[in-house]
Formats: sequence, C-alpha cells, structure tokens
Amino acid sequence: MEKAKQFRGTLFLLHLLIAFFLFILCFTVRTPRTYRTIPKPRLPPNTCPFHISEQTITPLNNTKHLLVSAYMDQRVKGLDIRIIGIFRKDSIQPLYCLFCCAGQVSRTTPTTISKPFNNFGFAFTTTDVMCQIPQKCNATHVSLLTKPDRVRGSNQTWLPIRNQKTNGKEENKLQFNFTVCISTLFGDYNNVLQFAQTLEMYRLLGVDRVVIYNTSCGPELNSLLHSYSQEGFVEMVPWPIDRFLKPSRGWLFSQSGGDMHYFGQLTTLNECVYRSMARSRYVLLNDIDEIIMPYKHNNLMSLMDMLQQQHPNTGVYLIESHVFPKKHFEPSGRFHLPQWNGVPGVNILEHIYREDPDRNVYHPHKMIIQPRLVERTSVHEVLKNFGQRFRVPMDVCRMIHVRVVQRASLTLQQLNEDKRLWDFQEKLIPNVDKVLRRVGMLSSEGQN
Ligand SMILES: *[C@@H]1O[C@H](CO)[C@@H](O)[C@H](O)[C@H]1NC(C)=O
Ligand SMILES: *[C@@H]1O[C@H](CO)[C@@H](O)[C@H](O)[C@H]1NC(C)=O
Ligand SMILES: *[C@@H]1O[C@H](CO)[C@@H](O)[C@H](O)[C@H]1NC(C)=O
Ligand SMILES: *[C@@H]1O[C@H](CO)[C@@H](O)[C@H](O)[C@H]1NC(C)=O
Ligand SMILES: *[C@@H]1O[C@H](CO)[C@@H](O)[C@H](O)[C@H]1NC(C)=O
Repeated sequence: MEKAKQFRGTLFLLHLLIAFFLFILCFTVRTPRTYRTIPKPRLPPNTCPFHISEQTITPLNNTKHLLVSAYMDQRVKGLDIRIIGIFRKDSIQPLYCLFCCAGQVSRTTPTTISKPFNNFGFAFTTTDVMCQIPQKCNATHVSLLTKPDRVRGSNQTWLPIRNQKTNGKEENKLQFNFTVCISTLFGDYNNVLQFAQTLEMYRLLGVDRVVIYNTSCGPELNSLLHSYSQEGFVEMVPWPIDRFLKPSRGWLFSQSGGDMHYFGQLTTLNECVYRSMARSRYVLLNDIDEIIMPYKHNNLMSLMDMLQQQHPNTGVYLIESHVFPKKHFEPSGRFHLPQWNGVPGVNILEHIYREDPDRNVYHPHKMIIQPRLVERTSVHEVLKNFGQRFRVPMDVCRMIHVRVVQRASLTLQQLNEDKRLWDFQEKLIPNVDKVLRRVGMLSSEGQN
C-alpha cells in the first residue's frame, strides 16, 4: 500500500519533470539563443495593433466624427502627429491620442484640435487633431479616445502613422517632382476627352502622379481611370463620404443644404498635401478640368526653377484662372478629329478664345505649392503656411479652364485668341489616342 503510494508519487514527479523539460525545450527552440530565459506571458490587452483601419474614412467610436488619416508632422514645436478628420462642429469634445509603440499600447497624450475651417455653414468641417508622441515610444499607429487613459480591453481602431521620419535628406530622395491633386470626383461626371487631354498634357509638362479622390463617376471615365491607375500615373483614393454623411453638391449650406461642403473638397485637398509631403517636390492644386500651363517654359520644372530662383523662400505660387468658353469653337476645325467622335466630353483643342478676367470682382487662383511649407490649404488660397506666397504673372503661367462661359456679356471679338495648347499638339494627340485605344474608345475611322 505504502509502496504503491510511493511509486505513484515518483511517477507523478517523473511526469512533472518530463513536462518541465519539454517546456524548456520548447522555449529553447523557439526563442533566439540570446534569450533563453522563460519570457513573461504577454498580456493581450497591452499588445497592438489588433484592428487597423483599411478605409479612407473611419468613424470615431463614441462620437459623431470621422477620421481620415494620420501623419507624422513635427514642423510645429511640441507636436508630432497630425490626424486629419471630419468633425461635427457642434459636438467637438476633448480627445486623447493613444499610441501603438512597436507592439505595445502607450499611455495617452492630450490633443490640440484645430479651429474649424471656414466650412460655409455646414455641420461637418475638416479638422486637424494634433498631439505629442510619449517618450521612448516608437509609434507605428495612433488612435483617439474620448477619455484619458485607455479603457482596459477596449477594442481600438488604429490608424497607421504615415510620413515616418527618414533621417533627413528627404529633399534628395523625393520620388516625384510634380503631383496633381484632384479633389472629389462625384455624380456621373463623364467628361472623358477633356480628362484624357488634360492628363496627357500634364504628363508632357512633367507631372509624375495625379491623385484623385473618387466618390463616383460615369462609366467611360471609370474605365479610363482604371486604366490610368493600373499604369500607375493616377492614384485613385476611394472616397465613400456618401456612406457616412449627406455630402452637398454645392459649396454653400444656405444654397444647397447637406452635411458637408462639396463632397469634402477641403478634406481631400489637405489629405493630398500631406500624402504628397514626403514624396513630391511640388503639388498642383486644381480641378479636373483645369490645366496649370507655363507660357514661357516647355515644362513645369523649368518654370519652377526660374520662380524659385527669383523668389526663394516661397512655398505658395498663385496661378490665375482663365476661362475658355466651350461654346466658341476655333473656325478651321483642324483639331475636330474623327477618331475622337465617339468619345464623350469636351475637346479642349477646339476652344482657343479666352476671357479676360473681370478684375473688379474677386478673381480666383489655383496653386502650385511646396507641400513641406504648407500646413493647411483651402481651394483658392493657403490658410496656413511657412514662407512667402507669390502671385505668378499671367504671361509666365496661367490656368487654362475650358468650361461654360463665365462672362456672358463678352462678345467673341472681346475674347483673346490663345493657342498655347496647340504648341504641344504633335505629341499630345498621339498620346491621347494611345490611352483611348487602350480602353477601346478610339473610333476606328481616322485611325492610321
Ligand atoms: C522603430 O520601429 C521600426 C519599425 O518597426 C524599426 O524599424 C526601428 O528600428 C525602430 N526604432 C527604434 C529606435 O526602436
Ligand atoms: C474589434 O472590433 C472590430 C470592429 O468593430 C471587430 O471586427 C474585431 O473582431 C474586434 N476585435 C476584438 C479582438 O474584439
Ligand atoms: C466602440 O465602443 C464600444 C463601447 O465603448 C466598444 O464596446 C467597442 O469595442 C468599440 N469599438 C471599436 C471598433 O473601437
Ligand atoms: C525631377 O527633376 C529633376 C531635374 O529636372 C530630374 O533630374 C529628375 O529625374 C526628376 N525626377 C523625376 C522623378 O521625374
Ligand atoms: C470610383 O468609385 C466607384 C464607387 O465606389 C467605384 O465603383 C469605381 O470602381 C471607382 N473607380 C475607380 C477608377 O477607382
């Protein structure tokens, strides 16, 4: 009896010993040679990130706000992170940044929330939330909380932190010289020919990337965009703002109602400036039917080289908008090309009559900026920047905007003939043909 008990005891000890050795063996094999001690078991609530947002628009839990993206931005002393969001103006409360530091959740830090942008009377507005990274934190992701200090086991949606530091020398390592930012595309916009001509014109001028925020568009334009984005010239950013808000098609709440100005145009323009900050020397901010055109240089780089030399320490170049009414056609019809007959949209080569701007009323500009010198932008001007601004004379550079007539009182004789686009026709036309052929939109008649 006693022996059996002893035997069972020994057996039990033996089992324990074997289990222990197996356990040790397990860790010896799994962990690198230098860490042979048994690690403390990880506490799941302290590890991160569990749930990373893969959307361009992420609702912020427990609030009415939406988050768009997070960027490293250390240009303002004491602040490290800028989160671009869409906030409901009447319910802005204090918020706290929570960081994921190389796999571990940090403590929270307080935030500075920007004063709302001019939002033209709408309930939702573009908002920047800024905060500091805690010391000794190698931050990879950030999240916002409505209370300081993390609720244990809370399930955060994390935003990846973009534009992480690359230890200086950024200027020399820029991937692009010129990026064009096109704010929100919506409705059934299907102006394919003007779009293809504009993009090919920009390519000839030295643009490397066109970023487009897409809520929706017409079927032919959609297939052209897919083709351009496959090739890599166009970067499509999904912008499903209509899933979260009632975006307005207008710019003024009192006129068109809705939750937010023009499908969130100011949010997308600012997002694009930050998206381009670490990779593009210059950013052009203009609409889908506008071309910022140098008139004394063959490309944007020689234009900017000259402007930078003449105006050092300038980060914002204002370019005057000039309207070419699409109702007036160039009379010879030499660019009314048969292969473009089946392509929806305006043929900009056929419109050569330019309105003089009415300088007695507000005259809008579009911009070429150095993104690293801009903190916040609006559509026609920059709201916050470092460095100077310069109004570029119209004989050096101006914007070609083929559209409906702006100054209806002007007769054809009062318009100026402006054939600048024709200077590029020899390369432009075959390049436009090529992209249209690629998506099967080139009419066979007239092709050679
Ligand atoms: C911070 O994290 C990145 C990415 O995990 C890593 O490459 C880098 O070496 C880390 N730096 C420090 C100082 O821990
Ligand atoms: C966290 O929340 C997300 C979405 O709300 C969900 O998909 C995910 O399964 C949750 N994860 C955990 C660990 O609870
Ligand atoms: C949202 O908040 C609720 C309640 O605080 C929590 O249960 C849930 O996990 C949170 N979800 C996310 C995605 O953060
Ligand atoms: C940018 O411009 C410089 C100077 O003209 C040129 O050397 C360089 O190749 C260009 N980079 C890109 C990405 O086009
Ligand atoms: C644009 O957005 C619509 C709606 O989400 C989508 O169906 C379409 O494929 C998108 N087009 C491109 C080129 O990304």
